[in-house]
Amino acid sequence: MCPPEHFGVLYEINPWMHQEVTVDSARARAQWEGLRSTLEQAGATVETLEPQAGLPDLVFTANAGIVNRGCFVPSRFRHPQRQGEEPQYAAWFRDHRFQVAELPDGIAHEGAGDALPFGNVFLSGYRFRSDAAAHLALSKLTGVAVRPVELADARFYHFDLTFCPLDDRRALVAPHAWDAYGQKVVAAVVPDPFALEPEETATFCANSVVVGSTVVMPSCPPRVGRQLEAWGFDVAVTPVDEFGKAGGACRCLTLALDVSIP
Ligand code: ARG
Repeated sequence: MCPPEHFGVLYEINPWMHQEVTVDSARARAQWEGLRSTLEQAGATVETLEPQAGLPDLVFTANAGIVNRGCFVPSRFRHPQRQGEEPQYAAWFRDHRFQVAELPDGIAHEGAGDALPFGNVFLSGYRFRSDAAAHLALSKLTGVAVRPVELADARFYHFDLTFCPLDDRRALVAPHAWDAYGQKVVAAVVPDPFALEPEETATFCANSVVVGSTVVMPSCPPRVGRQLEAWGFDVAVTPVDEFGKAGGACRCLTLALDVSIP
């Protein structure tokens, strides 16, 4: 995670961002600390990245790159506004002795914001931020099969706003945000999906972090909470709406370092 010292809405690169909206910095800090302590209470260990002036979206560390078994594939951001984050993440992973494997030049991919592990594959959303052309390279670099899913709604521009892996069988899914073929791809990979309605997806409830049996969520619509509890998960809601002003929530504010796909 990266503390929100320099967080703000300073440009508009997704439909949620409006420069005229001001971020309450004290509230953002308190929400970020709340997320951090909720994750720690659920059993996670949190490492931090140094914040940098001029990089307001560096808080969204999910977009740093893709991690698998000590290997790190750095993101290539679509928008110039975020490209300055690339060297910050690269330095952190080099310092922490990850093996760094680079995507070819000229291909955009926004890391764990778009590629999520499920079973022994990555499901990878593309179109708004990541290129379909990244997937072959990604699977070569990580040694993991990549199943592409085309995103269909600009409000849900990153895959992690539309999909939340819960365990080997279950996931929260937002098929309304994918094209028809993408819906089939996910259906073939996920045995027990729970489908969100568009209004539920818009609360960013899929942008949740699972630690053990706890689902750490920015919000939890009643129908979703009932299903998670029926499945035996504990729900921990921790509001991060200051970050919603930039189009992100809990999962975007984190990057899992312990991913291990065989
Ligand atoms: N303002 C950021 C952007 O538009 C938000 C990133 C949210 N990250 C995510 N993994 N969904 O790039």
